[in-house]
Amino acid sequence: MLGRIKRTGLGIFLGVLLFALPSQAGWRYELQGPGNAVWINEETQERIDVLPGTPAPDQTPAPGTENGSAEGVAVQGQNGEATDTVALISQEVGPGIPEQEVVPEETVQEEQIVEESQENSALRMSRGRQLDVTRPMVALTYDDGPYPAVGNIIMDELAKVGGRATFFVVGNRVAGNQAELQRMIQEGHEIGNHSWDHQYFNKLGAAEIQNQVARANEAIMAACGTAPVLIRLPGGNITDTVRKNVNMPMIYWSIDTLDWKTKNAQKTIDTVLSQIQDGDIVLMHEIWRQTGTASQTLIPELVRRGYQLVTVSELAEFKGYSLGLGVQYSSFR
Ligand code: NI
Repeated sequence: MLGRIKRTGLGIFLGVLLFALPSQAGWRYELQGPGNAVWINEETQERIDVLPGTPAPDQTPAPGTENGSAEGVAVQGQNGEATDTVALISQEVGPGIPEQEVVPEETVQEEQIVEESQENSALRMSRGRQLDVTRPMVALTYDDGPYPAVGNIIMDELAKVGGRATFFVVGNRVAGNQAELQRMIQEGHEIGNHSWDHQYFNKLGAAEIQNQVARANEAIMAACGTAPVLIRLPGGNITDTVRKNVNMPMIYWSIDTLDWKTKNAQKTIDTVLSQIQDGDIVLMHEIWRQTGTASQTLIPELVRRGYQLVTVSELAEFKGYSLGLGVQYSSFR
């Protein structure tokens, strides 16, 4: 018992040392608004949207977090237990060090950094919780909102399991529903563009297509402070003119629930569970009550089956895709 306490204490000590190191990769942190911060890589200019207080990919703590470290940032694991980065480090570091051995501080620090990065290479902090990139992950997507009556039910369910989803919202439905969009961002979900007013792009000219995309992006940005980086085309309708004028990655789906057609929660559940596999993108619609009901079963069941529920951008990133503008994607298997 005493030994355990001593080891844990040493682990925390080393954890704090780790966080005190200067950033190697040159990540700059900017707080952009409530629930919205960004890490910018000084070298590559890569931008990663995060919840305020989230450490950089190299574990550089966000400025202003407690003791200048990330230890105050509690995150929700997939299994529902609260954990934090320092606790993880203390677990990893603890058992490896004999208590009596006197080791110069600097040496311990370097050795432990190497050990830490090797043992935890599969674990990544993303959108306020930890993901294991070696385990299966899928993206649930909800179109045609915002629609708080259902969207909040979906988010309540996701919150219980640390899951994240992607909501492709229609620009002209944002007014009056800003609070729902703000909740999406605060809770780590992704908001995608689903056009300004749900016109089918294959029937529009170049300027009209560009206007549909830009207007929706502006409305979403004004409502919640975060601009979409992905689009889903209304009805999935696409032409070469659409490809040339939609300057965003175009996200399709690998499982079509047809929830809008059946309006039957059990059919939606069965469709997903009978097909789901690692890397899938599931198409649902936020505006149907039955889809909210289906999600209350689907979300915990997918987690029980070992799937991590991630945003589309996370799925692409952790499956090793870099997304092209005007390119279609239907899964990241
Ligand atoms: Ni739609």
